[in-house]
Amino acid sequence: MSVQSTRIVLASRPDGAPTRDNFRLEAATLPDLREGQVLLRVVYLSLDPYMRGRMSTAESYADPVEIDDVMVGGTVAEVVESRYPDLAPGDYVLSYSGWCSHAIADGASLRTLGRDRPLSTALGVLGMPGFTAYAGLEKIGKPQPGETLVVAAATGPVGSAVGQIAKARGARAVGIAGGPEKCAALIDEFGFDAAVDHRAPDFRDRLRDAVPGGIDVYFENVGGRVAEAVLPLLNLYARIPLCGLVAQYNLTGAPEGVDRLPGFFTRILVKSLTVRGFIQSEFVSELYPQFLEEMVPWVRDGVVRYHEDVVDGLENAPTAFIDLLEGKNFGKRIIRVGEEQTGVDAAGEID
Ligand SMILES: NC(=O)c1ccc[n+]([C@@H]2O[C@H](COP(=O)([O-])OP(=O)(O)OC[C@H]3O[C@@H](n4cnc5c(N)ncnc54)[C@H](OP(=O)(O)O)[C@@H]3O)[C@@H](O)[C@H]2O)c1
Repeated sequence: MSVQSTRIVLASRPDGAPTRDNFRLEAATLPDLREGQVLLRVVYLSLDPYMRGRMSTAESYADPVEIDDVMVGGTVAEVVESRYPDLAPGDYVLSYSGWCSHAIADGASLRTLGRDRPLSTALGVLGMPGFTAYAGLEKIGKPQPGETLVVAAATGPVGSAVGQIAKARGARAVGIAGGPEKCAALIDEFGFDAAVDHRAPDFRDRLRDAVPGGIDVYFENVGGRVAEAVLPLLNLYARIPLCGLVAQYNLTGAPEGVDRLPGFFTRILVKSLTVRGFIQSEFVSELYPQFLEEMVPWVRDGVVRYHEDVVDGLENAPTAFIDLLEGKNFGKRIIRVGEEQTGVDAAGEID
């Protein structure tokens, strides 16, 4: 019995912003299952900014994807065939199978998903991005009642959770996003106290007006011009969980203009700032159960809302990813690779 997997591989490394030519769609025949393995049919693929880093050989916290290898990525998948005792056909799991329609995985590496909540949330608000927000605040940002928190990429899965968790902890949340529609959603949909459009010509002034008492927590998602505008507004003892720098991921060299490093260090010194980079995985064993304990009821009760941006078809993943880096997503970007259903018929071309 052989199974065909449609997959997207890294065809070449980008120079600056990725293009469609950096990806290639192809078919591959999967090998037979070995003991302990399962055959997966992918239903949802998560698209995340970190994937830009995996396309490059620049120094990072994880190895790059090799040329001709499948692009990495978290997925929700259905078990189609199992040689692992704890999983049966029809089970849904969280896997790291990458940009493909079918995959073989070690059963022990998979997390079983219950059907009591939407499966797609395992890739967003109740998955890695939601956990990133939770852990960055719990361990570094530590928003206190009455304090002001600022976060950019604020309608995304990390930023929207950051603002809402901060509010649940009693802080004031100010979101930065690209464009008036996203800013309106920050107030109307996610309940932020203020929203500022980083594309507006008077962005710096608007940001200053939105934080009359200064900023106590800046959850850093983007870097670039936004960070430059935030820095002078930070209060004494402000905390910066440095989570991501998406505005810089497509840069090919050092930014032009004056060297801002001395000014940045001076501000860290005179304001006694805490700047701490983190990768969410370092906190998983310590905090994941606590995250689910708090976040699941918050999401169920509408304390934390989420927005998903679902694109149909694996073949559309490259464009959807390129657009994500340019802010053309609204909420957690997910590719619907297959339908949610059960049964061997769903396994593609099995013969
Ligand atoms: N450290 C970790 O473990 C960890 C884990 C997950 C994610 N992250 C990081 O967290 C950040 C947010 O991730 P996400 O999944 O929630 O992404 P996301 O918000 O869904 O997508 C990225 C967003 O970044 C914004 N953006 C892009 N270029 C920008 C620029 N030049 N200036 C300002 N904003 C820009 C865009 O929003 P606008 O249109 O609103 O500008 C875009 O929608 C990323 O930096 C990511 O790498 C880190």
